Amino acid sequence: MAAQNLVLLFLVTVLSCFIAGATSAPPVIKGGYWPSWRADTDPPSTIPTSYFTHLFYAFVGVNATTYKLTITSTDAQWMRNFTSTVHRKKPPSKALLSLGGGNASPTTFSNMATNASNRATFIASTIQVARKYGFDGIDLDWEFPKDDQDMSNLAVLFREWRTAFEKEARASRRPRLLISAAVYFASSFFLSDVKRAYPVNAIRRYVDFVSPMCYDYHGSWEPSATGAQALLYDSTSNISTSYGIQSWIRAGVPPKKLVMGLPLYGRTWKLKDPNVHGIGAPAVGVGPGDNGVLLYFQIVEFNAANNATEEFDKKTVSTYSYAGTNWLGYDNATSIRYKVEFARERRLGGYFFWALGYDKDWTLTKEASRTWNRRY
Ligand SMILES: *[C@@H]1O[C@H](CO)[C@@H](O)[C@H](O)[C@H]1NC(C)=O
Ligand SMILES: *[C@@H]1O[C@H](CO)[C@@H](O)[C@H](O)[C@H]1NC(C)=O
Ligand SMILES: *[C@@H]1O[C@H](CO)[C@@H](O)[C@H](O)[C@H]1NC(C)=O
Ligand SMILES: *[C@@H]1O[C@H](CO)[C@@H](O)[C@H](O)[C@H]1NC(C)=O
Ligand SMILES: *[C@@H]1O[C@H](CO)[C@@H](O)[C@H](O)[C@H]1NC(C)=O
Ligand SMILES: *[C@@H]1O[C@H](CO)[C@@H](O)[C@H](O)[C@H]1NC(C)=O
Repeated sequence: MAAQNLVLLFLVTVLSCFIAGATSAPPVIKGGYWPSWRADTDPPSTIPTSYFTHLFYAFVGVNATTYKLTITSTDAQWMRNFTSTVHRKKPPSKALLSLGGGNASPTTFSNMATNASNRATFIASTIQVARKYGFDGIDLDWEFPKDDQDMSNLAVLFREWRTAFEKEARASRRPRLLISAAVYFASSFFLSDVKRAYPVNAIRRYVDFVSPMCYDYHGSWEPSATGAQALLYDSTSNISTSYGIQSWIRAGVPPKKLVMGLPLYGRTWKLKDPNVHGIGAPAVGVGPGDNGVLLYFQIVEFNAANNATEEFDKKTVSTYSYAGTNWLGYDNATSIRYKVEFARERRLGGYFFWALGYDKDWTLTKEASRTWNRRY
């Protein structure tokens, strides 16, 4: 009898641990942006949701005169398909609607955020669209607020947005819509002529998480030397992921609210001398790709086709390859593993990838997911 009770007690304990684990908030955000312009080659059904807890539909625009979301016919075709597909998958992922992006006008966001009536129209539109198409939240990708005025308006927007989402959740008796934002790699624009810092108090209080874009540190705008576009450490400058993430933490954003960006693409140069091929080697311009940008699967193909030499640089935590005068800087599975270990050690909320469909057979996304799950 006593032995049976012990077995029962053991089972109850195991089961309650399991239930507690299963019902608590997801302990990690494994994010991925899905470019809707690639819908025909990479439809939502092809996304392996075991590697992603949060998927972002990229992007929907904001109308510059009405400040409502602009839903194109392509968006109308894919948004519901995206949300229902990722919700029905095993395991399911959350679906967020991402607004703006690198090609959207920052002025539209600026004009919206500065005016109370425009903010109200915008917020109402985000609720209407998110609910209509079945999204779990909205992700703001304003690249970038240009000055202190934009930053303080952004704080007001976050506050009003959160209040509106809470009110809507109470009225509709549905889970509150999430608020996230893709942000600069550092908490302030310390390299720019117009110094300005993100409104960290508003982020801490009203935003579920922010996603620093930890890439594009070097590229075609610096044609005379090779550069590691997403390096973790740089002993000679503050343009690095470790500095950027630390700046957010130092500014007061809890690590749990930081979701670190990882690129699924690289940047290329033409070497001046094929025998001088380190990071920072003299270059004469951009290398292969679209203005010196190659997607990760293209890099794997390029390396194989050109018998390129690949190097992992442990000091910076970055990978590069060279073949003749071609030089490619990117992340392979080893540098991704080091970066995800860094994110875990700093107790960040997780990581995200830009962008789905750029990986080679999901190699890097799988490596990141496995690394985060590993027991230490
Ligand atoms: C923005 O909205 C206005 C008024 O509804 C419309 O005329 C215009 O075409 C829209 N712009 C875009 C880019 O959709
Ligand atoms: C999504 O679209 C695909 C066509 O690409 C279709 O096969 C699938 O059934 C759709 N899924 C949902 C949930 O609408
Ligand atoms: C705010 O925008 C509305 C309509 O977009 C306009 O009528 C109003 O004058 C603006 N308010 C200010 C203070 O600029
Ligand atoms: C990096 O930033 C710190 C302060 O955050 C500053 O003290 C230091 O001088 C900066 N280093 C470089 C190389 O700019
Ligand atoms: C590829 O490069 C390696 C050195 O990096 C060399 O040993 C090998 O012969 C090359 N193979 C071909 C097919 O060119
Ligand atoms: C990443 O690149 C380095 C240098 O070629 C290599 O040693 C390492 O095995 C690569 N990582 C993986 C997981 O393939």
